Amino acid sequence: MNLCRKLWKYLLGLIILYVTVFLNLDRIRSYSTDAPIFEVTNSFSSKSHLSKDGSTNQFYHAQFKDQNHTYQFITVPKKQCSNNTKLQITILSTAGNFDIRQAIRETWANPNNSEHVANNDVRISFIISKTSNEFLNFALQKEIEKFDDMIVTDLYESYELLILKVHAILSYKQSHCQLADFQLKIDDDMAVDMDGLYRSLEDKKQASINGISGIIWKNSPPVREKKHRWYVPKTLYSEKFFPPYIDGPIYLIGKNAVPRMLEEAKNYNQWIIEDVFWTGVIGKALKIKQINWANHLLRYVIELIPSRLKCSKGGVPLIYAVHNMKGPQMIHDGYQKLKGVKCK
Ligand SMILES: *[C@@H]1O[C@H](CO)[C@@H](O)[C@H](O)[C@H]1NC(C)=O
Ligand SMILES: *[C@@H]1O[C@H](CO)[C@@H](O)[C@H](O)[C@H]1NC(C)=O
Ligand SMILES: *[C@@H]1O[C@H](CO)[C@@H](O)[C@H](O)[C@H]1NC(C)=O
Repeated sequence: MNLCRKLWKYLLGLIILYVTVFLNLDRIRSYSTDAPIFEVTNSFSSKSHLSKDGSTNQFYHAQFKDQNHTYQFITVPKKQCSNNTKLQITILSTAGNFDIRQAIRETWANPNNSEHVANNDVRISFIISKTSNEFLNFALQKEIEKFDDMIVTDLYESYELLILKVHAILSYKQSHCQLADFQLKIDDDMAVDMDGLYRSLEDKKQASINGISGIIWKNSPPVREKKHRWYVPKTLYSEKFFPPYIDGPIYLIGKNAVPRMLEEAKNYNQWIIEDVFWTGVIGKALKIKQINWANHLLRYVIELIPSRLKCSKGGVPLIYAVHNMKGPQMIHDGYQKLKGVKCK
């Protein structure tokens, strides 16, 4: 019975939503045709659409040995890095994940919860790809204006093109936040203890401006089944094992490594698996130092237990992030658990 009532409430909510949207359809339509900031069609061929801050004028090139792509940042935050910004965090998100972004804003990216975020020592934004869905665009436009923390590219959203999204993160670092010591690439299904993460930047054993930090995978074999999502043909990579690489959901790149990675990628064919490519293949070619955060990150929600949430000898929490947070509530819960660790 309880379930029935919940379902009914849910349905009622949907009906109200649809009615609201349809009553406003005209407004939505004119909004999306009037608003040049959010160009939906033909961005690849159109020459220039000035946004409020002029961000759309510049073209960026993702160059690989076998393929070239040109893309733009359709929207960037007006608030940018400042001279004291030490860490830029770019959260990979997708257009529809409104409530997840909101949960992140309310927890670990909240300036009220971290002095470093409030001071702009840490600059946080989401990166998404454009969408052609009018309803999503309407809501996104509101979100962009309200929070000023969105980077929107005209790249297509697909797993196969994640590698380009990371290219966009790196070139955004170079073009908009070059002085910051570190770039963090992180997915939107993580909860973070910002103070712990920030502390790690000051520890040479955990972060280097020349290196990459995260969970290191060693001796992983490429998948050779053609239909698999992670299929790697021998013509692309013939060796039995991937080079050691850093797990994709969260990795920290030192400022000196960023431009070198962008340059080196030009000598390689384009991959699909983003973390193996950027941190493993390119990282190895450049002999970029890898720093293991295996003692500082958790991969699953079931690991959020006292025996895993330990303190260091120095009396600070060891764990600063947890992955696989499914939905906004889990982000809140995960964040509270990380923050709840008490060390003497
Ligand atoms: C990519 O662009 C560069 C620079 O314009 C050019 O030299 C190269 O031949 C292009 N590569 C491909 C595969 O189109
Ligand atoms: C930031 O640093 C640059 C270069 O060192 C300097 O020219 C600029 O005045 C600084 N800006 C502020 C707001 O301190
Ligand atoms: C931060 O605190 C202020 C004052 O209590 C509040 O108005 C604001 O909504 C808070 N910001 C967030 C992101 O929670």
